[in-house]
Amino acid sequence: MFKSLTSAAISEVQNEYGIDDVSINWRRPQDKSHGDISTAIALQLAKEVGKSPRDIAEKICTALGKDESVDRCEVAGAGYVNIWLKPNALISELINTEQSCSKTPKRDEDPIVIEYSGPNIAKPLGIHHVLSTVIGQAVSNLHTHLGYNVITVNHFGDWGTQFGKLSVAFDKWAEKELSDHSIDDLLALYVRFHEEAEKDSSLDDVAREAFCKLEKGEKEITDFWKTVVEISLKAINELYDRLHVEIEYPHSESMYQDLMEPILKEGLKKNVFVEGDKGAVVVEFEEETGLSTAVVQKGDSATIYLTRDLAQIRYRIDTWHPKEINYVVDVAQSLHFKQLFKTVEMLGWELPNLDHILFGRMRFKDVEMSTRKGNILRLEQVLNEAVDRAGEKIKTHGDSIKTDNSDDLAEMMGVGSVVYGVLSQNRKMDMMFDWDKFLSFEGNSAPYLQYTHARTCSILRKSETDNIHFPNLTDETLETKERVLVGTLLQFSSALQDACDSKMPHVLANYLYQLCQDYNAFYNDLPILKAEGAMRDVRLALTSLTASVLKAGAKILTIRVPERM
Ligand code: ARG
Repeated sequence: MFKSLTSAAISEVQNEYGIDDVSINWRRPQDKSHGDISTAIALQLAKEVGKSPRDIAEKICTALGKDESVDRCEVAGAGYVNIWLKPNALISELINTEQSCSKTPKRDEDPIVIEYSGPNIAKPLGIHHVLSTVIGQAVSNLHTHLGYNVITVNHFGDWGTQFGKLSVAFDKWAEKELSDHSIDDLLALYVRFHEEAEKDSSLDDVAREAFCKLEKGEKEITDFWKTVVEISLKAINELYDRLHVEIEYPHSESMYQDLMEPILKEGLKKNVFVEGDKGAVVVEFEEETGLSTAVVQKGDSATIYLTRDLAQIRYRIDTWHPKEINYVVDVAQSLHFKQLFKTVEMLGWELPNLDHILFGRMRFKDVEMSTRKGNILRLEQVLNEAVDRAGEKIKTHGDSIKTDNSDDLAEMMGVGSVVYGVLSQNRKMDMMFDWDKFLSFEGNSAPYLQYTHARTCSILRKSETDNIHFPNLTDETLETKERVLVGTLLQFSSALQDACDSKMPHVLANYLYQLCQDYNAFYNDLPILKAEGAMRDVRLALTSLTASVLKAGAKILTIRVPERM
């Protein structure tokens, strides 16, 4: 951005001080009395040049003052260069923002794998599953939007002793055909198993044997397992649809069965894996890693979660040659991922960058939600409740909410409020689930964003203008609220890039919130439809660009925005 200014500043520095390797960063000052853009380049160069920063800043200022896009240039503080741009110059930069609303074409480069969601099959999704699911989807959407070659994977937990338990429970207590079981029925069987196993521990042995049969591929239990997976996926996919989540490769844990054996052999041969207690195979880490010993194979030869994760890495490297593999998983699994990453390093594999994108726990403001014991708080129930609450709001706000289809709007608002509620918080901290905040029309929430988008659409409709565009400004000046809005719109692409680089969706959410606030302040302060001439055109074009940014940004966060509300 600001190419002509950047090159003018660079050539001044080169001519005056003979320094070739300069790069200029423009910042947007917080305080509007410090201009539209500002740079600290003079402070950075002072040492190298051997002059005071203010002297250098003066020189740059004089040079930039001649640029036709500059209205005024000032040296401030210790040596900052503050610049006020001519309205035309500011507005013509907005073309970059317009471009940032559409996807960058996919670059031809090694892919970035992003793995997320990864629920365990045979249980309904709980509210906590929304975290990995939507954080992962947002991180993936950010990368895709910016042109990275993204591969998304769902590492479903569809393997392990729990299937042995479930098959035992089914044989003993099922009252109908397996295919007639809902995901809740499966959960009930699983819970029953645990209750009965407390009284009779021999059940656990039967379950372990059953899982061994599954690992050996015996037909009966394999068929049972397949049906259970089908029932589960159907229920899970319904929820993914509601959340606008799409994961390209449903590569579940069971996929890696043939890959584990060779890795176990390799590890033993390389002495990375050694014999542990009771015939188990383990990895011992060097003392300074602080990592506890990890089991890769149990005494009864059963493989475990970690074994499948080793296989998963091998498979992804061989299949995709990625430059990065990211795991969007609960902070509770930090130790597991440290052990995993260390083990593959010890195996001497050539590795891409491996990153555990962790997130905190979910806490509940609502006492009733936080004190539920035993049965899980199901995601579907929470989403339904969110939609009901949104429906109530739509009703009670009466006239101020106009919609053609209040059911659609309630779904969009309800689901959006839960998703945005999660994504607008720093993922590294614990998340607070708070109905009032999530569904508020005023704060940093989905309804506020959706409402602001609907407002922009309504103005555009009422304008009855087809060809909305930024005019060429000659003598007109921009009002403060306009300049602020333009400045925020100009930051869209850097907000996207920051959110993507840091893999922190809340950076984008906070940006969108700021944009909503700045747009609403502009709307409240200045006439748009009643403005005249070029100013009407500018304000409509700003409205239209705000609409595009909100829509594109919300979509990246998996949220939909209405045209009317
Ligand atoms: N299924 C796991 C769980 O519910 C999450 C999967 C995480 N991914 C992985 N590659 N280990 O805890």
